[in-house]
Amino acid sequence: MRLFTTTAGLRCYLERHRLGKKVGFVPTMGALHAGHLSLLQRARGENDIVIVSIFVNPLQFGPTEDFQQYPRYLAQDQQLCEQAGVDAIFAPTAEEMFPGQPLLARETTGYTQVVPPASMTSILCGRSRTGHFQGVATVVTKLLNLVQPERAYFGQKDAQQLAIIQRLVADLNIPVEIVACPIVREASGLAYSSRNQYLTSEQKEQAQVLYRSLQQAQKVFNLGNRDRAGLVEAVKTQLATVSDIEVEYVELIHPTTLELLDKVDEAGLIAIACRVGSTRLIDNLLLRNRQPIVAIDGPAGAGKSTIARLVAQELGLIYLDSGAMYRAVTWLVLQSGIPVEDEVAIAELVSQCQIQFAEDQPQALRDRQESSKPQISINGHDVTQAIRSLEVTAQVSAIAAQLSVRRELLTQQQHLGKKGGVVAEGRDIGTHVFPDAELKIFLTASVQERARRRQQDFKNQQHEDVSLQQLEQAIAERDAKDSTRAFAPLRKADDAISIQTDGVTIAEVTNQIVTLYNQKLSRSV
Ligand code: PAF
Repeated sequence: MRLFTTTAGLRCYLERHRLGKKVGFVPTMGALHAGHLSLLQRARGENDIVIVSIFVNPLQFGPTEDFQQYPRYLAQDQQLCEQAGVDAIFAPTAEEMFPGQPLLARETTGYTQVVPPASMTSILCGRSRTGHFQGVATVVTKLLNLVQPERAYFGQKDAQQLAIIQRLVADLNIPVEIVACPIVREASGLAYSSRNQYLTSEQKEQAQVLYRSLQQAQKVFNLGNRDRAGLVEAVKTQLATVSDIEVEYVELIHPTTLELLDKVDEAGLIAIACRVGSTRLIDNLLLRNRQPIVAIDGPAGAGKSTIARLVAQELGLIYLDSGAMYRAVTWLVLQSGIPVEDEVAIAELVSQCQIQFAEDQPQALRDRQESSKPQISINGHDVTQAIRSLEVTAQVSAIAAQLSVRRELLTQQQHLGKKGGVVAEGRDIGTHVFPDAELKIFLTASVQERARRRQQDFKNQQHEDVSLQQLEQAIAERDAKDSTRAFAPLRKADDAISIQTDGVTIAEVTNQIVTLYNQKLSRSV
């Protein structure tokens, strides 16, 4: 692992090492804890090169805040990064980052700064920490420009920061995927934070009330209360049970726009900030007003589409056939006459397409044959049959491998699943499309078993005989391609349940998933 303290060193390292590789970036202020380690682990799993920055950014501290006291443990952080498989740490001085500026650069006027929308910075933590998010936005923009990563990882504990950074990269067209990672908590429920170190053991115990109060809001929400008043009240009542906690705010906000909400329509974030002694702590909880999502991923030939359709049918949910969406786009490309290899023209075409599934799907699925596919249209054309043609079949994997196509369909799939109640299958559903799906399944089978099934399919369709060996080779090659592709590669999500389907019937796998779904649901009520 390398350690750089200068931008020149970091730049040179990246120029020499990145060469077609994917860079994952984790910006931190050091004093690494289990929350940071989860970001490092995720970045390590998804990228070729992992860079961590450790920089206590003076720009984001107010004059009366803890900039001087903020914990700095570079040697210990270095060890943790080494163990987590980090390739390089960037730990510049304030002078290196902001040359010629006073140490508390927040007070400077002679430096370019990034100003996020006031509607996002003037509320919640922004109310008491004037200028904080401008300082964060400025340093994050600088770091993203220096590292130019494909992906950057941020924790959901700092929900306001995360929403502002997501907005920043969208508004300024910064070419990076922001990966939001779940809050990591101690066994007591207390969210990990570098500032927990300021707490005495008694205060640490008192601080557990933050999470307890969020759980209280979840309970009230599960009982059907969607209104701000009831949810906020539930949190405040619980917080009031510990007298030494000083509440700064408890708010219900929209998780991406940060607008204050009167009630939760699709999703709402309960965000709190409290002081325990002189330590300021924040925490939050996402409340979702949607039906659950089942994400089924797995390699080619694992039986995902058959199983997903049957699970949807059993549970009365919508079957989101992502394969059909890629086929619909392929149909559109072929129809338009654009050559399949013209990725740029395809990017333009696909970014303006609109895919829809039939509204009455669960009923339609029940009424039709087990093998029937849901009705799908693109730009108003019903292409349910047309997407099964040989031409589309021959071109679909070339089109589905294109970055712009995957990006666009990711957005459309997320839109279709906004209200939940879907069973979606593919290769990146649990990892990218619906990372917060209530139930994630990774369906798999040995290469031999998948080749045998495929051969049977060919026989059933009266296609010419293909040898098992040829099929095994084709499947192994496809697996390698799927799991190494640049965007959203095939990977089992950490929280997915693996189901090995060798020697197990379709009905048995379907029942297993339906049972898991029912168990999950009964636990969440
Ligand atoms: O979340 C943090 O640790 C900091 O705000 C960040 C994103 C590293 C910017 O200084």
